Amino acid sequence: MDIKIFETSEQLDNYAAELYVNLIASKPNAVLGLATGSTPIGIYDKLIESYQNKKVSFRDVTTYNLDEYIGLTPDNDQSYAYFMNKQLFSHIDIPKEQTHLPNGNAADVEAECRRYDALIAHNPADIQLLGLGNNGHIGFNEPDDKLTFGTHIVELQEETRQANARFFSSLDDVPTRAVTMGVGSIMKAKTILLVVRGSAKSAIVKEALTGPITTKVPASLLQTHQQVIVLLDREAGRML
Ligand code: GLP
Repeated sequence: MDIKIFETSEQLDNYAAELYVNLIASKPNAVLGLATGSTPIGIYDKLIESYQNKKVSFRDVTTYNLDEYIGLTPDNDQSYAYFMNKQLFSHIDIPKEQTHLPNGNAADVEAECRRYDALIAHNPADIQLLGLGNNGHIGFNEPDDKLTFGTHIVELQEETRQANARFFSSLDDVPTRAVTMGVGSIMKAKTILLVVRGSAKSAIVKEALTGPITTKVPASLLQTHQQVIVLLDREAGRML
């Protein structure tokens, strides 16, 4: 694992954006695995800036997002589809049909999981961006006795719903279920870019990166991947 700790969040964002700009310069049709949550927003802002400064074009890029809540329509401002449009897609030149998220509002969500798996099976990400849940989850792969390889439905843990409640008007509004890429699909990415910010996550960062590899800390599985880049701000990295 290549672990980098940055003095400021902005330095982290610049570093990550440069990785993407360089990737797309050498491979204009790169496949990007994208993530939601507050962590990637600064990176998306820098990518928009790079696009506006004509340093990069996303015309031939394809993206696959990790996850989506079940039961929210794409026009619901809490859905991840809405988030991605607002934070990134609507500001860059990527054609809409090249952006993909699981449809958490499909009539048959099991069938939707199989559809998404078939899509991503042939398109492994060049870089899969990951945030880290407070409990060590990646995507919405929650700590458990076992983890699932492919795209599947998850019951969100109370802790996760509480952590994400800050984006909703109340805890009751946070969906109880989501669709997520499985850890197998995540691990197929050529490079994994794990980004974590803030002191509240410093203990789980330490556990995930240096603790035992266990399904109880899904991010610890990343220790078995051959190309992981970890970007931390000073606070998130303070226990390493
Ligand atoms: C959510 C997402 C994850 C994300 C995590 C951390 O539950 N499903 O993909 O990494 O929360 O979010 P944040 O970056 O807001 O701390």
